[in-house]
Amino acid sequence: MEPVHVAIIYYSSTGTIHTLARAAAEGAEEAGATVRLRKVCETAPVTAISARPEWEQHLTDTADVAEASHDDLEWADAVLFGTPTRFGNPASQLRVFIDTTGPLWFRGKLADKVYSAFTSSNTAHGGQESTLLALANTFCHWGGIIVPPGYTDPVQFQAGNPYGASHVAGDGPPGDVSLRAARHQARRVVGIATRLGAGGAA
Ligand SMILES: Cc1cc2nc3c(=O)[nH]c(=O)nc-3n(C[C@H](O)[C@H](O)[C@H](O)COP(=O)(O)O)c2cc1C
Repeated sequence: MEPVHVAIIYYSSTGTIHTLARAAAEGAEEAGATVRLRKVCETAPVTAISARPEWEQHLTDTADVAEASHDDLEWADAVLFGTPTRFGNPASQLRVFIDTTGPLWFRGKLADKVYSAFTSSNTAHGGQESTLLALANTFCHWGGIIVPPGYTDPVQFQAGNPYGASHVAGDGPPGDVSLRAARHQARRVVGIATRLGAGGAA
């Protein structure tokens, strides 16, 4: 049986979302999926990036991560998007990628896939849920099947966000609970995609 294809497409300035994306990749692989981990293109001006050494460093550290393309979306049975919260919304870098997908959408290539999303913010009530719900607007337009984690695993009662794995970056890098939540979300996405017939299991 062909494994479920999972694309994890993310943006990260300083590494938090990159760390969650890698945890999601582990979860999807544990569940038997073939995974493509992809970053979106950096669009911020060089002056903004160089003003923050940790941003510049993360760009260097992730230079070898492949950039997301339309082929990744077409290939995938399920897509997990990761983005930091930016004033309660997804990062513009991720939106730039999403806003190039009109031709795929027009040909119906984005419909009937499983979609899910994860995020981080600096503060506990800094807009995580609004960011995830904003991405869900797009998934509705695509005709996607939105799969949130809900409270489907004990870790969700610790992580506390049924909309998608989320981390408070102001508390430090993602720890055990955030990483387990990301892995669980990805495993669940693979499980639902399998039940929908992805990977030839209809
Ligand atoms: C322009 C901008 C807007 C932001 N808006 C918010 C916000 O609304 N709420 C919040 O808690 N943190 C906000 N942050 C902090 C980021 O969400 C946080 O640094 C990010 O989640 C870290 O993820 P990363 O390490 O993957 O880049 C903002 C950061 C920037 C640069």
